[in-house]
Amino acid sequence: MRIPEETVERIRQSADILEVINDFVSLKKRGSNYIACCPFHNEKTPSFNVNPSRQIYKCFGCGKAGDAVRFVMDIENIGYGEALRYLAKKYGVEIEEQEQTPEDLLRQNERESLLIVLNFAKTFFQETLLNSDEGKSIGLSYFRERGFSNPTIEAFELGYTLDQWDVLLKEGQRRGYSVELLEKAGLVLSKEGAEGKDRKIFDRFRGRVMFPIHNVSGRVIAFGARILKTDKNQPKYLNSPETTVYHKSQVLYGIYQAKQTIRQEDVCYLTEGYTDVISLHQAGIKNVVASSGTSLTTEQIRLISRFTPNVTILYDGDAAGIKAALRGLDMVLEEGLNLRLLLLPDGEDPDSYVHKVGAEAFKSYIQTHSQDFIDFKASRWLTEAGDNPLKRAEGISDVCASITKIPDPLKRQTLSQRVAQVFHVSEQSVISEINRLLRKQQDQHKKDYERQQQRSSPNKTSANSSNTLTAGEPSLDDINALLDGFSEEAPEMAGFGDTAPPVQSSANLSKAVRTPISYQEEECIRLLMNYGARELEPGISLCQYVLDELHEIEFQTAPYNVMLALFREAYSRGEILTANDFLNRKITDETDLQNRAIHLTTPRYEISEGWLKHEIFVPSEEEISILADAAYRNILRIKKMMAEKRMGELQQLMRESRNKSPEEADQILLEFMHYKRIDMQISGLLGTVISG
Ligand code: CTP
Ligand code: MN
Repeated sequence: MRIPEETVERIRQSADILEVINDFVSLKKRGSNYIACCPFHNEKTPSFNVNPSRQIYKCFGCGKAGDAVRFVMDIENIGYGEALRYLAKKYGVEIEEQEQTPEDLLRQNERESLLIVLNFAKTFFQETLLNSDEGKSIGLSYFRERGFSNPTIEAFELGYTLDQWDVLLKEGQRRGYSVELLEKAGLVLSKEGAEGKDRKIFDRFRGRVMFPIHNVSGRVIAFGARILKTDKNQPKYLNSPETTVYHKSQVLYGIYQAKQTIRQEDVCYLTEGYTDVISLHQAGIKNVVASSGTSLTTEQIRLISRFTPNVTILYDGDAAGIKAALRGLDMVLEEGLNLRLLLLPDGEDPDSYVHKVGAEAFKSYIQTHSQDFIDFKASRWLTEAGDNPLKRAEGISDVCASITKIPDPLKRQTLSQRVAQVFHVSEQSVISEINRLLRKQQDQHKKDYERQQQRSSPNKTSANSSNTLTAGEPSLDDINALLDGFSEEAPEMAGFGDTAPPVQSSANLSKAVRTPISYQEEECIRLLMNYGARELEPGISLCQYVLDELHEIEFQTAPYNVMLALFREAYSRGEILTANDFLNRKITDETDLQNRAIHLTTPRYEISEGWLKHEIFVPSEEEISILADAAYRNILRIKKMMAEKRMGELQQLMRESRNKSPEEADQILLEFMHYKRIDMQISGLLGTVISG
């Protein structure tokens, strides 16, 4: 249901961030701010900061940041609307709901009805387990055999369903749930009868112990059901089908029971089965979930990342377990999470192993036997390779391929040192391999992109691919002279491939490859956001200066380009955006952009290594002359980098110029010299010395 805009405003106005956060953690005053140990990650010294005057918080440890609404969303794992309702209730703001469209109502009603009928089924299965003779003698004694205690059975709301055709159907109907609804919830099945016979309707789950599957907020959305007899013709586990409320690729079994502890321990154990989750939970290891019946998906990994950036995969040590672990590995890295892996001794799963050795031994087994992905992959390759150099090279390449999945270039660089150590090769060769793979991926991206472009406009051919012109030998001497001392770039750094992939959907904003130019673009947005309205000279705001200078330049880094576009758009309406405009969702719903806005406007701005390397200057900018200078240099650097980028492209064209006409080669040379002049001019202005 939509909340009217004025009401949203009223809620925001009444909410005080100190009060809101104090309901969850106790804040201490420190200067003009308040601090606490961060509720989103595990820490001993407080790095969670609340700024009452700006009404925002930011954790310098884990990077979580936002306003009061964001805090409620994150701490309670609820959506925007729900968080607003929470605050409205706390501050006594009345919400007059807006009229809903009939479709809204229908959809919401269907969801809600499904959740209600699923909850009824859960309770029915629980009662059957605890109160019926068959439930007690078969279901409950099975759980006892597996060592599940009463509190465990209660915590996971386990149940039992009688070995009959239609107990649930009858009870459901008696309570007024329609057959359609029961069917939509995946609880009953219907089959067309044979000729002349009636349609048959019956329970999907019969004679099985029931494992309800909960969503993050604890509502039952589906069931897993385990058979107890050994029957070759029946699957061991039978699961609910996909429904309006159950999309199995987005769900993790146990997340509701685990989320609190995942956050506290700051790590999530990922297993394969229902019983792994339950047995570890009972043993006191509660930060555990299972992908249950599907191979791990990206959505499931993102779900984990809402609670912690650290994942440890606990799989069986058999061939299938290893295969599953390797498949999950790259996906976890790709989402930017930190990964460790642990294989259990052969023939054991986490459930059987924790029963065998007990909780303490299990925990220390995780401590001593889990490996990071480099050791995990390397140990496999090194045993196989022996002293076969080809196999070793293959192994290095395989590990490097996983490293290229990691979105953070600084992390990639640290890891290349580790790979070098583990495989006893030079770091430079590892870095080269990573860069080779990255370039290959980027070429692939580019090809995909061009193919896509061509498909959407079949008449246009790509400008760079004119290989059809006849060969003329242009004199390349002067070109080469120009190129000398210019062509090879500074020593390569892992992951600073020179271009970001050309296509980046907005869903991928936070994963953009960190290129040198991205630091300058970030700096530009930071200046706009903090000082946009400041006048560098009478009548000329920083915003106007920067936007004029950039003219129609598009940024290379997707999120900053989106932000730049927002500044331009607002400026054309005579407005200069501030961080609050991003936070208040007036101009964007992307939390990634909101986080960046906070990051860029937080006083304790962290000077990372990257920033120093890219010569970004942070000290007191309050003084106009310093600010003007910072803006001026930033613009120059961006232009210089754009020129360099274009020159790189032109160089590439020149290398291919064997296939081009002299006129074309001249044209390229002219353009190259144009940019070269710009570049040298800027270098002079910046006082940078260039080689060559
Ligand atoms: N699974 C499934 N359907 C099957 C078999 C397995 O959905 N036919 C899923 C279940 O979520 C199961 C997980 O895959 O928990 C792992 O399967 P398995 O290792 O065979 O089961 P366990 O969890 O070890 O179950 P149990 O100990 O009860 O045999
Ligand atoms: Mn098992």
